[in-house]
Amino acid sequence: MPMLTTKEINEIRNSVDIVKIIGEFIPLTKKGRNFFGLCPFHDDHNPSMSVSTEKQIYKCFSCGASGNVINFIMDYEHKSFSEAIIYLADKAGIKITKDIYQPKKQEKHEPLYQIYDIATKYYQNNINTSSGSKAKEYLKKRKIDDEIIKEFQIGLSLNKIDDLTKLLLKKGFTEKELVNGGITNKTDSGFQDVFINRIIFPLWDVTGRVIGYSGRIYTDSDMAKYINTKETDIFRKGMLLYNYHRAKDSTRKEKFVILMEGFMDVIRCYSVGIQNVIAIMGTSITNDQINLIRKLSPNVYLCFDNDDAGQAATLAIGNELEKVGIEPKIIKLSNDLDPDDYIQKYGVKQFKLAIEEAISFTDFKLDYYKKGRNLKNNDELTNYINDIIQVISKIDDNIKRELIISKISDEYSISKEVLLERLNKYISRNKFEPKQLKPKTKPESLDKYQKAERQLLYYMLKSKEVIKRYEDDVSYLPTINGRVLANEIIAYTNKYGHINIADFITYLGDKQELIKLVSEIEMFNLKEEYTIDEINDYIKTLNEFSVINEIERLKNLMKNELDIMKKAKYAETIRRLKIEE
Ligand code: CTP
Ligand code: MN
Repeated sequence: MPMLTTKEINEIRNSVDIVKIIGEFIPLTKKGRNFFGLCPFHDDHNPSMSVSTEKQIYKCFSCGASGNVINFIMDYEHKSFSEAIIYLADKAGIKITKDIYQPKKQEKHEPLYQIYDIATKYYQNNINTSSGSKAKEYLKKRKIDDEIIKEFQIGLSLNKIDDLTKLLLKKGFTEKELVNGGITNKTDSGFQDVFINRIIFPLWDVTGRVIGYSGRIYTDSDMAKYINTKETDIFRKGMLLYNYHRAKDSTRKEKFVILMEGFMDVIRCYSVGIQNVIAIMGTSITNDQINLIRKLSPNVYLCFDNDDAGQAATLAIGNELEKVGIEPKIIKLSNDLDPDDYIQKYGVKQFKLAIEEAISFTDFKLDYYKKGRNLKNNDELTNYINDIIQVISKIDDNIKRELIISKISDEYSISKEVLLERLNKYISRNKFEPKQLKPKTKPESLDKYQKAERQLLYYMLKSKEVIKRYEDDVSYLPTINGRVLANEIIAYTNKYGHINIADFITYLGDKQELIKLVSEIEMFNLKEEYTIDEINDYIKTLNEFSVINEIERLKNLMKNELDIMKKAKYAETIRRLKIEE
């Protein structure tokens, strides 16, 4: 098949509006010439992402995320370049009948991904051999059939000390790579596999690549039920949500996502046809995970184990979600069951009913604080009411507040006036402490040389005349990125003539640093027009820098030079440069 040309890719990009596309994922409001919204790429509390209609690019002033609409879709939707193009073409109603060029990603940790690829296949193979029969039996007992085993890439580590390690060494990986990669342990008696005689559940990153494992015992054993891969260059448990990549489509369709504790719960749901489910794998959550969840859907259901730990986790995680503007719904299970047990015991129909009957987080809290308290005892009732006052104080909706106050007033025969008085007292005492804001990363302050560099680059992006001045009159730019960008501008202009910023960003491919620099320069809001005097000024400043730089370089050479004659020569050159300067 022929390839899509650069022109065709630019046309696709140009046929959608970046404000509209980003606006479908995050609310944007117009402020001046640009649109602003909460940046989805970091824990943002103040809208710091700016989107420009005119330039068709976005930039976060806090974390630096930037690019054109293709970069946004790639990062936000975890899509490859070609997937993003297909997505946008679809939005624009353009049919693609050609192949799409895939800019090669430079992947620093490629060997580690390869290791996990080989290991996963090895484990998957084991479970289908005769050594795997016991493990298969265990899974069968848990109602996990072959189809699910295949879908979730479930495997088995043999009851052998170093089978996998040996295999990978034979394939040319080093012991160091295997140990750092969390595959192999170094012990007094030599190198050993991390996972021995366990059922292996692969863990994936958001794009679906295997980056680690959880291994479960499946025979009577007093060893830990699960062991997980240690933190490595590619595996961070706090960045991981089990099944995230698989849950994306279904979440979009169902318009909500269910968060659970354990991956076994997720696998159970999937096996009965509920796919918009992810797990944190435990009972604590990180900000990174919250951000990932927020990207999936603003509608989050929590379905944790119905035991003390699970309910305490529901409260804690619900509170965390509330801080980022998500009010979760809570799915209540009966007895001390987890979702896996519940579905097996009562069936999927009953579970779907439980989803429908999910309660608001406020109602969950009203209930939660009753636990372990005898509300017929006045002291305990008072404590309960005090906890509830706190819950009510967080409700923004007046009507909802009023309703709950009435309910409590009726239920415990306490007058509304007293409740309201308490509430107001609580609110004024806690004076709506502003939400904890992360210290804003200050924009790095630029010295006059860097400023001149950016100003010159800005006008180079707009004018061939300025490019020519750069080629003729500037010998050296102060920063590496500036120098590389200048070369790219020249190459691009030679090839395509005029520069359209958003297309130029596509051309830069995966050169993130350059994309960041271009977006920064563009969003600086410098004036459109320049005067020759201004350009002369920038060039003068930049050449001043290159002289200073050259003097520094010569001084260093001189310091290390032993030959007296050469030393003198350096000194002479420096003297001359200083006069010029
Ligand atoms: N977990 C863990 N290490 C443990 C126990 C639990 O990493 N020793 C994590 C696992 O990722 C697990 C989650 O915490 O998925 C929830 O734990 P738990 O409820 O004990 O597991 P279940 O999902 O109920 O697993 P199973 O049904 O196999 O007992
Ligand atoms: Mn379980």
